[in-house]
Amino acid sequence: MPLPYVLLSAAVSLDGYLDDTGPDRLLLSSPADFDRVDEVRASVDAILVGAGTIRADNPRLLVNSAERRAARAAAGRPEYPLKVTVTGSGDLDPDANFWHTGGEKLVYTTDEGAERASRLLGRTADVVPLGPTLDWRALLEHLHDVRGVGRLMVEGGGTVHTQLLRQGLADELQLVLAPLFVGDPQAPRLFGPGGYQGGRLRLLGTRRIEDVVLMRYTPTAPGTGPLPAAADRHWLRTACELAAQCPPSETAFSVGAVVVAADGTELARGHSREGADPVVHAEEAALAKIDAADPRLPGATVYSSLEPCARRASRPAPCAELIVRAGVRRVVTAWREPDTFVAAADGTGVLTAAGVRVVVLPELEALAKAPNAHLVG
Ligand SMILES: NC(=O)c1ccc[n+]([C@@H]2O[C@H](COP(=O)([O-])OP(=O)(O)OC[C@H]3O[C@@H](n4cnc5c(N)ncnc54)[C@H](OP(=O)(O)O)[C@@H]3O)[C@@H](O)[C@H]2O)c1
Repeated sequence: MPLPYVLLSAAVSLDGYLDDTGPDRLLLSSPADFDRVDEVRASVDAILVGAGTIRADNPRLLVNSAERRAARAAAGRPEYPLKVTVTGSGDLDPDANFWHTGGEKLVYTTDEGAERASRLLGRTADVVPLGPTLDWRALLEHLHDVRGVGRLMVEGGGTVHTQLLRQGLADELQLVLAPLFVGDPQAPRLFGPGGYQGGRLRLLGTRRIEDVVLMRYTPTAPGTGPLPAAADRHWLRTACELAAQCPPSETAFSVGAVVVAADGTELARGHSREGADPVVHAEEAALAKIDAADPRLPGATVYSSLEPCARRASRPAPCAELIVRAGVRRVVTAWREPDTFVAAADGTGVLTAAGVRVVVLPELEALAKAPNAHLVG
């Protein structure tokens, strides 16, 4: 299921706090950065905050610039992004600014929370129960499929940011570092304790804005189960972009592949017919660059724009077999192999029979096919 692009946005003190413990909201950003936040808000379809932030900060979460609202309207979008909150208790103050400013409002909650939220809010907001507990993936699927949200900005607080990052559902983190200290261990932190991806996130960019610094990061660690993490989409997109670099051929597909360790470290990449080898396949080229004894291989994921081949004439071992031999246990691909060159090729079947988990992301199939349009139309 495609999900919205999820952008986590927060400002923190130099000692990593989101706020202090005083009654008023601590202003961490500079005026120019508040304007940047306004610009980001104007670019998204929905803004989400946790119920804790509504209680603590009583925010409006508006697009404040009249020009930006006018540009949204001119583009056929609502003037204000949809405002979304999450609550388990359903205990929401109906007088909060959140409900009385901006455009449409939506509450995601549990079956139990829905009764209370609906009673307190009446017709002010749509209340959507998601079952006995609140499942973030179900929430994002609902936002995408039912509300048409393609880009979601999440503005806190720490409880919400922590869950989205730890569950591999965040595509990007926009973090502003403010030059002040809070120094109170009771104050809320951006990320709570628990398990996060090992290794390092990828830095997308930095920007000085008056006296604060904006840092943009993207998580890199592959998912671990049958459901894709946000990082899986990024790596598979990279594989599809590599496919576009292949020398064109009338007799073979153009494919890109990337091998990524469990901590998000890229081990190797390759594409069809790379270098001086006119028949090499993408996965074969990438795996050949990694030491067969590399202890990271069993925990790695192979991203391939096209399903790894199950049979081939040009070499003794097809790519599905090479992947099994390498000890890799997870493959993510965008496109099942069509019958163009090999009838009923089933690389997924070969991999699955050997205990390798295969995850297919059909939302990237068009990108994987693009350099092969002359072969498959
Ligand atoms: N500096 C910044 O950029 C920034 C931005 C935003 C917020 N903040 C600060 O962050 C603090 C608030 O953060 P917070 O962590 O306390 O609150 P929060 O993340 O805004 O909201 C937490 C609440 O959301 C609901 N919730 C979250 N996950 C849920 C789940 N899986 N199932 C059901 N309900 C769920 C629960 O509501 P119920 O309690 O109703 O069940 C929970 O108490 C404030 O001090 C605020 O000033 C700072």
